[in-house]
Amino acid sequence: MQPQWPCEFPGVHWIDEEEEQAVLDVLRSRTLFRHYGPAKPKYVETLEAAAREFYGVRYALAVNSGTGALTTAMAALGIGPGDEVIVPSFMWVATVAAVVQANAIPVLCEVDESFTMAPADLEKKITRRTRLIVPVHMAGSPCDMDRIMAIAAQHGIPVLEDVAQANGGCYRGRKLGTFGAMGIFSFQLNKNATAGEGGLLVTNDERLYWRAFSAHDMSLFWRDAQPVDPEPDVLTWPQGRRMPELCGAVASVQIRKLPQIVQHMQQSNRRMRAQLEGTPGLQLRRLNDPEGDAGPFLIFLLENEAKAIHAVRQMKEAGLQSAVRLADYGLHIYSNIPALVSKTTLSSAGNPWSLEQNAQSVYRYAKGACPASDALFARSILLPVPSRLTEEQENWAVQVIKKAVQP
Ligand SMILES: Cc1ncc(COP(=O)(O)O)c(C=O)c1O
Repeated sequence: MQPQWPCEFPGVHWIDEEEEQAVLDVLRSRTLFRHYGPAKPKYVETLEAAAREFYGVRYALAVNSGTGALTTAMAALGIGPGDEVIVPSFMWVATVAAVVQANAIPVLCEVDESFTMAPADLEKKITRRTRLIVPVHMAGSPCDMDRIMAIAAQHGIPVLEDVAQANGGCYRGRKLGTFGAMGIFSFQLNKNATAGEGGLLVTNDERLYWRAFSAHDMSLFWRDAQPVDPEPDVLTWPQGRRMPELCGAVASVQIRKLPQIVQHMQQSNRRMRAQLEGTPGLQLRRLNDPEGDAGPFLIFLLENEAKAIHAVRQMKEAGLQSAVRLADYGLHIYSNIPALVSKTTLSSAGNPWSLEQNAQSVYRYAKGACPASDALFARSILLPVPSRLTEEQENWAVQVIKKAVQP
């Protein structure tokens, strides 16, 4: 019988009685809120403590989603009108949405054959108005952080790493999310560690942490379950992005399991890559650090668009339903994001595009804005690598791919 290709959702396959117990504990104590309740809340705090240790950072702040983490980070960093923020052409709508929500202007950067931000193009996209660089460790894989950090340092521009898709990954032995001024993560269902929803920010900068804290909550701090007014320097507007205890309960267990989940995906991914290496007409995605790739996706390039369209169809028919040609990968591709292409405004005032402060930042986002990326997306295929594969399932998928790409 043909092996089944399991659904993706990496963290989901590892949920067991540990998560159940934690959730029951929250419900039985009726302590659903992170700051106070009938009993002393503990799970969101436990998650934050585990995150500080796991990533090796001074500060970790749990929030309600990865999108929420991005908008909170923008507030902490003070991004606003007149600012340009560089984002890669291959990301998620949330990455670019956080920039627009801040009334700043997104500037697209090409990706290279690693499918992450191309450092050579990043240099070209920097202007006097560039206020932030957002490398996205896309589809599990680290960006070229040596070159990106060097360019950022040379121009004195802060970096916010979007690690939503590569939680647990590393670059040259250092955890992703710890290179820039801030790093963000997601615990949404399809992430390496999940609570259904949830997000996290990490930083070593005390001031950024407190600004993020104030923004994610109600513009105040909590001491001994009492609200306290923050110092003026860290005062921001509230966004209401606190993580609930139920979510913290699941996420605090999942973050402990993350190394094991990632190790499983890495092993499957490496075994599959090794078998696919040298297949005529197929080129594997370049990895900026093969050791640090968290493993949840396999990406490969074919010679042209027609071959990629044909191969995806064959793969799906054979049972690899989750295979997708990158050009068709929804809101991960800049030109597939309708609100971006049409420069949808935040209000009838036309902002952010119409703001006087943004008058010099005029860019287009329709297909063609990043031609090198467009060419890569057209001929490349992505396949999620589920987190509990057997070697039989891996071998079967490799045979399906080899057959699908045959000339
Ligand atoms: C690269 C990237 N950034 C941000 C997010 C947003 O995370 P969330 O879905 O938790 O809001 C996602 C989620 O898919 C993502 O893939």
